[in-house]
Amino acid sequence: MRSISNELSAVRIEPVELTKSYLLMNHGPVTLVSSAHGERRNVMAASWAMPLDFSPPKVAVVVDSRSYTRELIEASGEFVLSIPSRAIASQVLAVGSQSGRELDKFAALGVGTIPASKVKAPLIDGCVAWLECKVIPEPHNEKRYDLFLGEVVAAWADPRAFKDGRWVFEDEGLKTIHYIAGGNFFATGDAFEVADK
Ligand SMILES: Cc1cc2nc3c(=O)[nH]c(=O)nc-3n(C[C@H](O)[C@H](O)[C@H](O)COP(=O)(O)O)c2cc1C
Repeated sequence: MRSISNELSAVRIEPVELTKSYLLMNHGPVTLVSSAHGERRNVMAASWAMPLDFSPPKVAVVVDSRSYTRELIEASGEFVLSIPSRAIASQVLAVGSQSGRELDKFAALGVGTIPASKVKAPLIDGCVAWLECKVIPEPHNEKRYDLFLGEVVAAWADPRAFKDGRWVFEDEGLKTIHYIAGGNFFATGDAFEVADK
């Protein structure tokens, strides 16, 4: 386990097997997309993000052509998807409502970071899972749909929320969240199982 102290909290994160990393996004939570190039770094919200393959694991995310994030991802070829908890929903809305071209969202909105292991973009504090990604070049799709595909090169989770390959949503504040619109979210609901006949 990595145990990292930063200015906000002591963060507990454990590696997630790459072939299991799709489980971190399979239930459709909103994500935070962080990016970095040279001295510049940024974070935005993205609900249009999904797993795309098991092995090697891949993700897809829509990143608007006008966003600062898009500029940094195109320059670096890397990004991180962090899965935020309910506790930081107001930060999710804030980083999704303002552009990093106008302000340093990390400083202005008190967004904490954790160094990633394989990419320069940071993991976001207050999240419960993280996927470090390298862009898979798809020039045709990017132009038409603002779609970015990434290969997941490292994955992490907070063991209080994701343990032994399963989400455990016991703590309300650690639940993942789903975006509707206009500042309205759902928190992830009750799990149930259907017998496989
Ligand atoms: C909850 C939420 C989800 C969002 N989902 C997406 C998305 O999937 N794709 C996208 O391009 N923009 C999305 N946005 C909008 C961007 O986060 C927003 O344009 C942001 O200000 C871009 O920041 P940047 O210019 O600093 O990169 C979302 C906003 C919110 C609040």
